[in-house]
Amino acid sequence: MNRARVRKVLFALLVFLVVIQIFQPRRRNPPVALSRSLPSHVRVPRDVYAALIRSCGDCHSNQTHWPWYGRVAPLSWVITDDVNEGRRHMNFEDWQALADPKQANDRLTSICEEIKQNGMPPFSYRLVHQDLRLKPQETAAICTWSQSFRTNPVGSGGLP
Ligand code: HEC
Repeated sequence: MNRARVRKVLFALLVFLVVIQIFQPRRRNPPVALSRSLPSHVRVPRDVYAALIRSCGDCHSNQTHWPWYGRVAPLSWVITDDVNEGRRHMNFEDWQALADPKQANDRLTSICEEIKQNGMPPFSYRLVHQDLRLKPQETAAICTWSQSFRTNPVGSGGLP
């Protein structure tokens, strides 16, 4: 490619990047209703809940910290999609949405599995947010709690 051609391609790319900024996804942090949140439905130690909100809350709560680079397309589309999808699967601040006790219990037990298998948080998120990583003792506390739902499932009597 000669220089004029390269310049044309770069210019087209620049125009493309500017134009796609028109398509801004909606970034929403819905209001938090305590009565719908996890601690109102399931017994959860305070430190466990704090660690979950800190480390997972960007995609599994209503209090997402939207990063500045998350305003720039196409990254904004990817991030908004992750948050919406994460909340849809499991939102600690809308636990009531998981109406089926079996489904809720499955989510609770898979929290430990996901962390142990490095499935969650997603790899790209872990790369960027090393500071939010769970400490070993936090993982241990979360796992003890999460795995207790194997022997004592939600809705089968053992919980408030
Ligand atoms: C960057 C966003 C993001 C963060 C941060 C994140 N998750 Fe997720 N999570 C998702 C998405 C998206 C899904 C749904 C798709 C999938 O399963 O990959 C999901 C799904 C899950 C599921 C499966 C729910 C189901 O449907 O069974 C569990 C459990 C889970 N996450 C736990 C966690 C835990 C625990 C943390 C923190 C240690 C965490 N996640 C942090 C985005 C995130």
